[in-house]
Parts: sequence; structure tokens; C-alpha cells
Amino acid sequence: MLNICVCVSGGGTNLQAIIDGIAKGTITNTKIAAVISNNKGAYALERAKQNGIPAVCVSPKDYESRDIFNDALLDTVKSFQPDLVVLAGFLVNVPGKMVQEYKNRIINIHPSLIPSFCGVGYYGLKVHEAALARGVKVTGATVHVVDDGTDTGPILLQKAVCVQEGDTPKVLQQRVMEEAEWKILPMAIDMIANGKLLK
Ligand code: GRF
Repeated sequence: MLNICVCVSGGGTNLQAIIDGIAKGTITNTKIAAVISNNKGAYALERAKQNGIPAVCVSPKDYESRDIFNDALLDTVKSFQPDLVVLAGFLVNVPGKMVQEYKNRIINIHPSLIPSFCGVGYYGLKVHEAALARGVKVTGATVHVVDDGTDTGPILLQKAVCVQEGDTPKVLQQRVMEEAEWKILPMAIDMIANGKLLK
């Protein structure tokens, strides 16, 4: 059984895709040990509670320094003994200590086809604004391993999505989530749980 912690910051639609995947059996051999957020108001925490999953907030606002927060975040993750940490819309820079502790055991979903539109400053709607500004005809999403960089770790899965005439950033974001993110993140978790990725 793959024990996972899912780290979130926002609405939790990617978390919901994981919860739904486990419920309908498209994700097998996997248990969500906890959902952890840096944001007290993240609806993703509510989604966890609605599904009987431990939901914990570790907010930087509650700690006197970033280093102390980083240690608290790592201790909280470790307390659930995950085999895999899944960043699903998590807007915190993962502490170096955590990347080392879970080397090749942290994955992230990014809403573009890396190496396009990624790195520092590219998150949420900003990614789609940049894609539209560049005029790309195809974008998509990427699941990658988290390393010490920003969106620089080994790519595991990608799925392309067509940009349509008249797309706004919001419309494009929704299509990328529906057609790509909510498919490849659950797929990656199932593949890892069944020894097909990150062997
Ligand atoms: C989405 O844009 C996703 O691509 C990014 O974080 C945003 C919020 O995701 N990783 P969620 O609804 O909180 O899963």
C-alpha cells in the first residue's frame, strides 16, 4: 500500500481527482494518510475533512521564522510516514531538508508542458497568461519529480491540451485542469503505487 501525503494551498481540485480516483478504483494500492496545507482557508482542507482524511494546516504565519516553519512542515509530513509526497497546487517552496529526506519521493503537478512556462513566478493563472501571451497553440500539464530547483526535476508524465481561439487565462486553466492535470496526477500516483514509475 502506497501511503501518501498531499500538500495543497488552494481549492483542491487536484486533490479531489486523487480522492475520486481511489474511490472508483482507477488509483489502486494507495491511501491518503493526510492532507497538509500552508493556508488555513484552503478549500482543499474541507475536501479532506468531507472524506474523512486527516487535514492539517501548517501556516508560516504561525512561526517566527521561515526556518522554523520549514522544520514544522517537515516534522508534520514525517509524522504521517508517507512513501510519497504529492504537491497538488502547493504554493510553498519545499524546504531543501524535505527534498533530501524524500529524495525522488516528492512529485508535483505543473500546469504547462515543462520546460515551457515554468520556474520562479510561473504558478496558477500566470502560467496560462504567459502561454496565451506567447501565442502557443498547444499547452498542457506535467507531473515531475521535485528536486532542489523550481519545476526542474525529472519529468514523469505529460499531457497536451489545445489552445482555442478566444481562450482567456481562466478558460484555458480550466481546460488544462480537466483534460490534463486531473488525469495525469492520478495516473502517476497509480503507476508509482504499482511499481511502474519511480522504481
Ligand atoms: C492549478 O492551476 C494547478 O495547476 C496548480 O495549482 C492550481 C490549483 O490547483 N498546480 P487545485 O485546484 O488547488 O488542485
